[in-house]
Amino acid sequence: MKICVLNGSPKGEKSITMQYVRFLELANPDHTFISCQISRKISGIEKKPEEWESICSSIRDADLILWATPVYFQHVPAQYKRFVELLFERNAVDLFAGKYAASISTSVHFFDQKVHEYLQGISEDLGMTYAGSFSAAMNDLFEEKNQRQLVLFGKDILSACSEKRSAIRAYPRIPTGSPVYTPGTISPVETHGKKTLILHDAASGSNLEAMVRQMATGLPEAKTVHLDNIGMKGGCLGCCQCAFDNTCIYSDGFCSFWKEQIEQADIIIYAGSVRDRYLSAAWKQFFDRSFFLGHVPRFQNQQLVIVVEGPLANVPGLRENLTSLLGGGNLVDIITDEPENSSLIDAVIRSTAERAVQASRDGYKKPPMFPAVAGHIVLRDAVWGDLRPIFRADHRYYKSHGLYDFPQYQYRKRFSRFFFSLLMGLPFVQKKIKPAMKDQMAKPFDRIFSESLVLKQVQRS
Ligand SMILES: Cc1cc2nc3c(=O)[nH]c(=O)nc-3n(C[C@H](O)[C@H](O)[C@H](O)COP(=O)(O)O)c2cc1C
Repeated sequence: MKICVLNGSPKGEKSITMQYVRFLELANPDHTFISCQISRKISGIEKKPEEWESICSSIRDADLILWATPVYFQHVPAQYKRFVELLFERNAVDLFAGKYAASISTSVHFFDQKVHEYLQGISEDLGMTYAGSFSAAMNDLFEEKNQRQLVLFGKDILSACSEKRSAIRAYPRIPTGSPVYTPGTISPVETHGKKTLILHDAASGSNLEAMVRQMATGLPEAKTVHLDNIGMKGGCLGCCQCAFDNTCIYSDGFCSFWKEQIEQADIIIYAGSVRDRYLSAAWKQFFDRSFFLGHVPRFQNQQLVIVVEGPLANVPGLRENLTSLLGGGNLVDIITDEPENSSLIDAVIRSTAERAVQASRDGYKKPPMFPAVAGHIVLRDAVWGDLRPIFRADHRYYKSHGLYDFPQYQYRKRFSRFFFSLLMGLPFVQKKIKPAMKDQMAKPFDRIFSESLVLKQVQRS
């Protein structure tokens, strides 16, 4: 069988992910693996017809397409995303239709599932049968038990292909087009000196452009900047040289833009359009390039609004991605152009602008939910563990900002929990406690209601 490996790592053959592919290849000597360096060569693939044709011919000849990619910023690298866009722009769907597809990634397991969801959705959009995914941690291959699992994955996807195994589509097709948004008149909000930055990649004449303009009307002193004008000359190369001191090898102005514009804003508005099952590759490049900041929260008590053109409700995975981009900030809302009623969109833009200013003045931040809480723990352990020797800037930041909040360091709590556990181990104590559990759990809150200074202040005001 012929397997066409589409490598998403900008590091090319030297990538970690490709070592996993190499292992698969060695474990399956009866099959032919052809690797295409998609992300490393994206510029040539986009501009040179012969490079595009060479990839197309490898895909055409293959029985199985293996998407092989690192996880970059909770998704595939921007260069790979651009390749997916090219497939649809250049009507390459016929090359893939009827084939089998599978995906393999390496990562530190931070939102790695998003990559496989995306690649499954894209495989299905391309008319392929998706045979399965394998998401490895970077160093998994050093252990025999993981090597065995990788061999089994290879066996499974190859037999799916040879047996022509059936599969049920998991991600329905996404409708195209949005109702036309015709902005009406909205009044500006009082910004109280709060600085707003609107960052967008709107095409001229698009709904997104109209929404961006309307947002700028609502927040009159807002600075509006197109992604084309922030100095990005290319995608993240994955070199990780920034890990030592947050200095990117690019000197194209992107990092200064981040420091001077993004970090200085009180309210940040990201505006983009749904392109296949994500935003554009330009947005992805923006997110990837922010990796020069390492694994630290991107925002400091800033308020964020996301404006989306396109059928976001039909791509729930993208909404999940967008809501988990925002470490350290507060997501005020996500606004889309999906409603048919333009005045509803106007009203939401106006009220969201007002809420963003108010939240910024109040210092409001919603409590983190599972993705942020779990994500913090994954990154904390990775930075403290395997990443520490290289990601030195992260280590300094985590130490100085109290992000190494391991439970085993909470000595007082550990001490009291130890005695509490001993007590709870005694059968006669359990007998007494069990019927009173509900009351006992709610009881400590009584003290808050009578003693809370916050409550007293609010009641007085
Ligand atoms: C720009 C960038 C972004 C990354 N984002 C993530 C991420 O969101 N989640 C994750 O688990 N790992 C992330 N990683 C780690 C890579 O996925 C991991 O190092 C992977 O093994 C690299 O594979 P490669 O050598 O094939 O490129 C990121 C690495 C880079 C350079």
